[in-house]
Amino acid sequence: MPNLDKVLDRVDQNFDQSLGRLFALLRIKSISTDPEYKSDCREAAEWMARELTAIGIPSEVRDATGHPMVVGHRVADGKPGPHVLFYGHYDVQPVDPIELWNADPFDPQIVTREDGSKMIVARGANDDKGQLMTFVEAVRAWVEETGDVPINISVLLEGEEESGSPSLQPFLDANKGELSKDLALVCDTSMWNKDTPAISVMLRGLVGEEITLNGPNKDLHSGMYGGAARNPLHVLSDMIAGLHDENGHITLPGFYDGVLELPQDVKEIWDNLGFSTEEFLGGVGLKDLGGEKDRSGLEQIWARPTCEVNGMWGGYIGAGFKTVIPAKAHAKVSFRLVGDQDPEKIRDAFRSYLKSKTPADFELELHPHGGDRALRMDFDAPALAKGRAALTAEWYKPAVLVGCGGSIPIVGSFKRTLDMDSLLIGFGLDEDQIHSPNEKYELKSFHKGIRSWARVLEELAK
Ligand code: BES
Ligand code: ZN
Repeated sequence: MPNLDKVLDRVDQNFDQSLGRLFALLRIKSISTDPEYKSDCREAAEWMARELTAIGIPSEVRDATGHPMVVGHRVADGKPGPHVLFYGHYDVQPVDPIELWNADPFDPQIVTREDGSKMIVARGANDDKGQLMTFVEAVRAWVEETGDVPINISVLLEGEEESGSPSLQPFLDANKGELSKDLALVCDTSMWNKDTPAISVMLRGLVGEEITLNGPNKDLHSGMYGGAARNPLHVLSDMIAGLHDENGHITLPGFYDGVLELPQDVKEIWDNLGFSTEEFLGGVGLKDLGGEKDRSGLEQIWARPTCEVNGMWGGYIGAGFKTVIPAKAHAKVSFRLVGDQDPEKIRDAFRSYLKSKTPADFELELHPHGGDRALRMDFDAPALAKGRAALTAEWYKPAVLVGCGGSIPIVGSFKRTLDMDSLLIGFGLDEDQIHSPNEKYELKSFHKGIRSWARVLEELAK
């Protein structure tokens, strides 16, 4: 029996235990953005380092400016193929609104649907614990079955991806020699649909800004001051409203500089994927396509820039009513970027716009967040063809090349700092509710994801 077949059988035999290990990781509350969970983040890093070491990738927890990194290597002389650096993140998003979860987000459950299909429900089930464990379990099966893995493997796991990876750049700068390998493997993206595997070849960039607008020096009685005193929430709403025109275009001067039109051949491939805007929006209780009036839904998600208000607050939001003019208004606004858009130019344009709209007796406070360019992979890279071959063999359907509306800041840093390309293979689905209540991962994604990586490892060695 060829090695690969034995390894795939081993994946199947191990599956219940693989699931048990994933559940153990899912029980750790590694919410990176909330300081209250700092020690949980370290616990997740330690758990990962132990697990990697146990499967034959000696690994350690390394302190960084924020939550720690996990780094490991399994290297032997004379192996064929590229030396890969696998990247994943052990941190997760906050769970709020907690009341919308059907069970404790950190008590993972297997939920069986009427048709017998099963899903794993927990915070991080997909993003990114379920995804990163597909790779880990594939390595385990190779080592257990054959005593080795086909190629040289290094691993880098971080614990701050969900909060913009602030420690990553200094860490990469300080450890260039150790981390710069031939190719990065990243498992943090989606399939095209539940039966069709995909490799992401475009990622959007991200730039964000937190705004505090200070008006009167205290909260005021709206009967006593209403009319005479300008209301910070009104001013902020006006600022936000002015960001889009009636056709859904963003109004900041120079915003579209560097936005590239989609090459015709890619456009044709995407047009033929059979994307249904109705189904896509229907899944989240919507009907009408928003955004830029002259662009399709898929194009907007994968290849167009956006501006979104992620949060906006101020004034009285408790029970009942309080007739108040608040002293402050707040918003968090982010932009998804594509093509060659420059995050810092966009930040400057946004800041100038906000300043121009701030009344002379108000004070504007700004806090930057993120700042990553979009990325486009080389469509002809040999690793891409190998990844496709492996995925196509496992899923009996050709792997498609897709865009990804989300951002994975490290992929840009890999390219710029380490001159390393990335192969982005993931087994998530659009409906997995990542970042939302009842996040889930299909059991099939987890199982076939492990089998897929087992195949990719062999394919890369060819
Ligand atoms: N796994 C996601 C990226 C992703 C999103 C892949 C949607 C596939 C579909 C990643 O963990 C993520 O959420 N990234 C953040 C980065 C941000 C906080 C800098 C994002 O895109 O919002
Ligand atoms: Zn993720």
